[in-house]
Amino acid sequence: MAAMTKAMCVALIAAVMVAAAAPGAEAALGCGSVISYLSPCLPYVTNRGPLGGCCNGVKGLYGAARSTPDRQAACNCLKSLAATSGNINLSKAAGLPKQCNVNIPYQISPSTDCTKVR
Ligand SMILES: *[C@@H]1O[C@H](CO)[C@@H](O)[C@H](O)[C@H]1NC(C)=O
Repeated sequence: MAAMTKAMCVALIAAVMVAAAAPGAEAALGCGSVISYLSPCLPYVTNRGPLGGCCNGVKGLYGAARSTPDRQAACNCLKSLAATSGNINLSKAAGLPKQCNVNIPYQISPSTDCTKVR
């Protein structure tokens, strides 16, 4: 239970940090939406549960992030989430697109260069 609370807290902090770091960014896809698409993945990427509904979330996000600014916004959001959340298993996070058969052309990792995402 405490771990869950921590994960949610980290997600919230990441959302706030991204919002603060990008004032006036005009991407339609907010970090809050990215996180809510991917929230079914939290148990999996934090080593606490099965994939569950995670792939539906990944596919939903993939379908929602169609333009370059959207993809970059999603990338920045995932990147800061990966960087700030100590309990996310990064190798699992990086393997998600493959697990879900979705072609996401970048790795979910703290060192991803989101400016290269198109
Ligand atoms: C991440 O998940 C992989 C695959 O389940 C596992 O082998 C590895 O030990 C995990 N790493 C951490 C840091 O929990």
